[in-house]
Amino acid sequence: MSIIRVHDKQFEPYLTANDINSRIKALAQQLDKDYAGKKPLFIAILNGSFIFAADLFKELSIDVEICFIKLASYKGTKSSGQVITAIGLDTDLFGRDVVIIEDIVDTGKTLSEFLPQLKHQQPASMKIVALLHKPEATVFPIPIDYLGFSIPNKFVVGYGLDYDGLGRNIREIYKLVE
Ligand code: IMP
Repeated sequence: MSIIRVHDKQFEPYLTANDINSRIKALAQQLDKDYAGKKPLFIAILNGSFIFAADLFKELSIDVEICFIKLASYKGTKSSGQVITAIGLDTDLFGRDVVIIEDIVDTGKTLSEFLPQLKHQQPASMKIVALLHKPEATVFPIPIDYLGFSIPNKFVVGYGLDYDGLGRNIREIYKLVE
């Protein structure tokens, strides 16, 4: 692995495909254990989580469902400010064991705005699995129940994550050279 260029910026190797795969296997083992005998519903947030969600899903042995949603934000009324809605959420969450799959939690804004909407549907439980978390960037603290890697506050690409649309197809994770 060496330095790569995406658009106008340079990125250096950070996590190998091997690092990622072994961490995902460990996460799946934990999830298999914690959800044994249940039938959880995984909700993967597009676009960034599509590769992580697929690889994690393949490692699970329990009975499990998955759906993919896209979050769209639009300007609400003055009092509500920015409103986030989920496109593609066609399953009733009432009484379900829900597991949200997110690629990366940065400031925590996205999930902090979106989670209350899901809780509103009264799932039996709701947990979060995230591949990456940047603790130093936290503005809205989010409890991450299953975490791949805690990373420094640096911009990363690859393995589903993009820089301005590009880089999602890179098999490893690279971080910005500053
Ligand atoms: P948050 O709402 O600030 O937690 O941001 C979450 C979203 O921002 C993620 O789902 C990503 O789509 C995007 N994001 C945050 N940090 C990065 C990064 O380092 N690389 C690529 N996308 C990122």
